[in-house]
Parts: sequence; C-alpha cells; structure tokens
Amino acid sequence: MGGCGREANSRRGSEERRAGRERCCRLACASLQRHGLHTAARHCKARTGAEHLWLTRHLKDPFVKAAKVESYRCRSAFKLLEVDRRHRILRPGLRVLDCGAAPGAWSQVAVQRVNAAGTDPSSPVGFVLGVDLLHIAPLGGATFVCPADVTDPRTLQRIQELLPGGRADVVLSDMAPNATGIRGLDHDRLIGLCWSLLDMAPDLLCPGGTFLCKTWAGSQSHRLQKRLMEEFQSVRTLKPEASRKESSEVYLLATQYRRARGPRGA
Ligand SMILES: C[S@@+](CC[C@H](N)C(=O)[O-])C[C@H]1O[C@@H](n2cnc3c(N)ncnc32)[C@H](O)[C@@H]1O
Repeated sequence: MGGCGREANSRRGSEERRAGRERCCRLACASLQRHGLHTAARHCKARTGAEHLWLTRHLKDPFVKAAKVESYRCRSAFKLLEVDRRHRILRPGLRVLDCGAAPGAWSQVAVQRVNAAGTDPSSPVGFVLGVDLLHIAPLGGATFVCPADVTDPRTLQRIQELLPGGRADVVLSDMAPNATGIRGLDHDRLIGLCWSLLDMAPDLLCPGGTFLCKTWAGSQSHRLQKRLMEEFQSVRTLKPEASRKESSEVYLLATQYRRARGPRGA
C-alpha cells in the first residue's frame, strides 16, 4: 500500500475512533443523567481522553452501581461500611463528627449505625454532625454545618455547641483538599488537614474515642502516624476494597484516645 493509502486509512481510522468516542460519550452522558448523576454528565461534555477514561471506569464501577441500588449518595459509603464491618467503630448511641461530609454518604452510614434517626426504638439514639465547605442536602437523623471550614475556630465552637456534651465519640475525616495534581503538594495539604483536626481533638474527642482519617501516602505519612501513636492506644492503616487500587489513598484508624482537655473532658 502506498503512502497516500496509509495516510487515508490512518485518517479514516482516527475519525472512526473519534466518532466511536463521541458515540460512547453520548451514551454515557445519557446513562449518567438517567441515574441522576448530573455533575458527571456535565463533565462528559468536555470529552478529553482522560475524562473519557474516567467516565468509562465510573460507569463500570461496581461500587457506583451498588451505591445507586442502596441509595447511598456516593460510592465512598462502602469504604466506611467495610471499616465498620471489620473494626466495629460505630454503635447505637455514639456521637459522630463527620468532617468533609459532602455529599453525605458517610453520614448516611453513620446515621444507620448509631441509630441517630431513632429507627430502632430498642437501641440508644446516637448523634451525627457533618461539616463541609460545600452545601450538603438535608438527611434525616443528621445535622449539618455547611458551608464551613473545619479548621476555622468559629466552626469548632459551632461543633461544640451542637454535639451533645460538646464532644464526639468518633471523629471521621474523609476530607480532601481540591487536588492540584502535584502529588507532593496535595499530600502535604491533606496531612495538614488531618493535623489541624488532631490539634482540635482535645476539645472535640472523648477520652477513649476513635479517629478515622483519609490520607494520601507520601513523605509526611509517618509523621502523622507517629503523632497518632502518641495520642491513641492503637493505630492501623487500612485500604478498603472501595478505595481504588491505583490511588495512594489510605485510611488511618486510631482508637482509644488518651488525651482530652477542658471542663467537659469526660
Ligand atoms: C471525598 S469528599 C467526602 C465524601 C464523603 N465522605 C461522603 O461519603 O459523602 C471530601 C470533602 O472534603 C471537603 N473538605 C475539604 N477541606 C475541607 C475543610 N477544610 N473543611 C470542611 N470540609 C472540607 C470537600 O469539600 C469535600 O466535600
């Protein structure tokens, strides 16, 4: 085959691939809209290779499908469900602070587990307080402070006012800063968020309490882990099934908090 034929073939091939991508994208968009995932559907319009890949993976993801079936606001619910199934951190009657709670899937799990909506009349009723920079749609059994920055001292005061007894038994943090794509910087910013939360823990968390936070593995991870080991009796690193294999995301679960200060220390 001559050079011209090869060029024509390769042009035709790339046009076909582009048309195929666009067809696939249109189908994906329609599917996302049918499933009420309008934000994802909007992203789909940009149609870059990376977005196309993200979309294809998203639509095939069994946790995305399961979240839809079980009415969780997003797939991350399954991370907390697994941590709780394995480590029993949520029980009826406990007070939970959910930091970085939007859109609210962890809060949904927490409400069920601590009986915050009082659905089970034979069990103690717990309390779930969620905080996020973003708006969170109302959820029965949960109280939300939003938009609010967890690291702002005014938010800490509001949290203390709202938590029964001014403290939580369990502090959850699935917080994630807006990723810049610069791995080291994103890692430092996430560790910084966990660090700020730990600085607040003496005013927030009961002695004996539990702290679960998301981190992205990196150079500062050991420093955070070391601090957790000083302040809690036990620290574990967890990678739930729903946490994508290719992501550096890991969760640190620290139990039996040793420190507390202030008049409401018990
Ligand atoms: C991965 S999402 C959390 C998903 C949530 N666990 C769920 O299951 O629905 C991370 C959230 O952290 C929030 N976030 C990041 N920095 C924050 C801060 N300083 N204060 C409050 N929320 C923050 C973001 O706005 C974002 O909604």
